[in-house]
Amino acid sequence: MALSQASRGAIVVSAFFLPILTYLYFTRSRGKKSAGPGPLPPPTEITNIFIHPIKSCHGLTVKEAKLLPTGLDLDRQWMWVTYPDHKFLTIRSDSRMTLIRPTYNSGTDTLTVTAPAPNSVDEKLEFSIPAHPTPDWLLENTSTVNANIWSSNTPAHAYSTSLTGPFNDFFGKDVRLVYKSPFSDSPRALVSNGAKDILGREGSTCFPDLMPILVGCESSINELNTRLQAAEGLTIDVRRFRPNILVKSDKPWDEDRWKTLRISSKPGSDSKEGGITLDVTQRCARCQVPNVDPETAEKHKRQPWDTLMKYRRVDEGIKFKPCFGMLCVPRGEGGKISVGMKLEVTEVTDKHRYIGGF
Ligand SMILES: *[C@@H]1O[C@H](CO)[C@@H](O)[C@H](O)[C@H]1NC(C)=O
Repeated sequence: MALSQASRGAIVVSAFFLPILTYLYFTRSRGKKSAGPGPLPPPTEITNIFIHPIKSCHGLTVKEAKLLPTGLDLDRQWMWVTYPDHKFLTIRSDSRMTLIRPTYNSGTDTLTVTAPAPNSVDEKLEFSIPAHPTPDWLLENTSTVNANIWSSNTPAHAYSTSLTGPFNDFFGKDVRLVYKSPFSDSPRALVSNGAKDILGREGSTCFPDLMPILVGCESSINELNTRLQAAEGLTIDVRRFRPNILVKSDKPWDEDRWKTLRISSKPGSDSKEGGITLDVTQRCARCQVPNVDPETAEKHKRQPWDTLMKYRRVDEGIKFKPCFGMLCVPRGEGGKISVGMKLEVTEVTDKHRYIGGF
């Protein structure tokens, strides 16, 4: 039986195109299923706010805080540096730094810093400084230095050793305390996923490692604690991860896909405070700092690092570090935030990828 010219043509065409169409159909529908960021999670609420005035030192738990473009007011505006080269000092190299405790007196607007005195049971080292120093105060009482943090330098104010001198004994070496104003003339520009060409605007911060704000989730620390309990009978406090804002959040680790957050007034309250938007720049890749108990400064040999390494290496951009918490940059001028406020995820993404090498 002879096929007509037309049907022969049709067979050739379909033999050629059918596999291609089938291929496209399956890859595209499969792509859609695995790549989508999924639906928005239900709104949740802020359950705790933490401020760490001095980088790597003990933090404060507060009911409310002022959110500035650089981060929470008083958060990581101070840090200890070596002398004479002004290199940043952190818990990574000296876990005892967490025994240095700043307290804030809102009546006098003073930050008082204490630490256990060396070779003494009850004696304390102590000094007090203005929490919001005026330009005149800084001019008369500090000197300008170039402080190093990671691979960059930023201008900062170094306090006189007539104030901080006794802390040299605590560190066992010559150190200086430096301050960076959140309204600095020479702001420390954000890098990594917060760089201008990626964030779409210029952002800056004082002395956090990377971004102005770290948000953590209770459901995730609870899930991690279930594993730590099973592995070592251990439960850790979320403060080891040094978040600024802790939220309830229903589903553990769902924060991995957060892209934009909105903080607004307490549900049911008349107050119109809030209305703050945060851009989530990336997941927070962790080092071994969370192994340090901030109350005792003791460093656990394995946990939570070992457990996190087993299942939280979830970012393509930084495959050899586990992630906990989401790093954020506030939009606009910020505002007041308080415990009980509503946090909504207004955008999610499946494109988060950590940019390292800063
Ligand atoms: C410098 O510090 C001292 C002690 O806190 C204070 O009394 C003085 O007013 C400060 N200088 C200026 C210009 O504020």
